[in-house]
Amino acid sequence: MTMDLKKYVATVPDYPEPGVMFRDISPLMSDGKAYRYATDQLVDYARSKNVDMIVGPEARGFIVGCPVAYELGIGFAPARKEGKLPRETVKATYDLEYGKSALYMHKDAVKPGQRVLVTDDLLATGGTIGATIKLVEDLGGIVVGTAFIIELKDLHGRDKINGYDIFSLMEF
Ligand code: PRP
Ligand code: ADE
Repeated sequence: MTMDLKKYVATVPDYPEPGVMFRDISPLMSDGKAYRYATDQLVDYARSKNVDMIVGPEARGFIVGCPVAYELGIGFAPARKEGKLPRETVKATYDLEYGKSALYMHKDAVKPGQRVLVTDDLLATGGTIGATIKLVEDLGGIVVGTAFIIELKDLHGRDKINGYDIFSLMEF
């Protein structure tokens, strides 16, 4: 069975600010069959990379990465925004399509040498995924792939993560 997942993405012009075409995955997530279908493909990709661990950035990276980790029976570690993690952290700052931010991970979230898949809902400018990769590598993890539901081609996020394998389920 194949599904056209693009039907489950809502496009909202000028959100959260003028000029941004927001690609909202919440219709996909709220449809059980579409969510499972998307997750299954990400799981196949993760299996092909022989991953030990999934890392996803707050918040939508959790929605994408956690079911993949569950299905594979491996761990998930979050990269979180400011002020959310209670123990010692590493930090990476980055620019967004709309704004600037920082992400943090607990220092023991990834073990040196672990093969890590980084997941998120969407690759836009690549700032978020670039910061997440940097955190994983600061902890000694090996980023063996990146996986997204959506890649926004016009924003050239893949140029920012040159050299890393990129898997996405659809492009806009
Ligand atoms: C969105 C999205 C990605 C990121 C992509 O997250 O979920 O993480 O932007 O943009 P980039 O490739 O230009 O970095 P956002 O920061 O809006 O946070 P959220 O997941 O908490 O909504
Ligand atoms: N994150 C960054 N840019 C985005 C966009 N255009 N749609 C949804 N999420 C985003």
